[in-house]
Amino acid sequence: MSHVGQIIDFNKIVDSRGEMVALEGDRNIPFDIKRVYYIFNVKPGEVRGKHAHKELKQVAIAMSGSCKVSLDNGETKEEFILNDKSKGLLIDSCVWREMYDFSSDCVLAVLASEYYLESDYLRDYKEFLNHKLV
Ligand code: TYD
Repeated sequence: MSHVGQIIDFNKIVDSRGEMVALEGDRNIPFDIKRVYYIFNVKPGEVRGKHAHKELKQVAIAMSGSCKVSLDNGETKEEFILNDKSKGLLIDSCVWREMYDFSSDCVLAVLASEYYLESDYLRDYKEFLNHKLV
């Protein structure tokens, strides 16, 4: 089975004071990081995402709390639970994503390979499937 998303296990730098994770573009993040955004205070029952990107690659990390992410490449669907500050979910381009079951304390950080560009979005599922064929 081909994997739709990939969990990246970040190295934790632990000492007597606590723990730390460092994220570096083109090193433990497999692209040059051009943008970071974060999602929080998601209302109970809300679903975010529901789109794919033509080119954009992303890594999503639950910095606090938890949420679920469903990924779909048009052939295979996979569900991930994000609840670990030292793990990131790599979402490749052309993957339909939905994020849901956010805990009230969830802060979902997303590192992105490109600046925000609305024309990179595929917001219609049929359009996403068609884009995969071209
Ligand atoms: P969207 O990507 O649709 O959110 P989600 O995938 O979490 O459901 O973005 C929501 C709105 O925010 C949309 O109007 C576009 C805008 N936006 C920006 O202006 N800059 C950004 O970097 C992002 C991710 C979104």
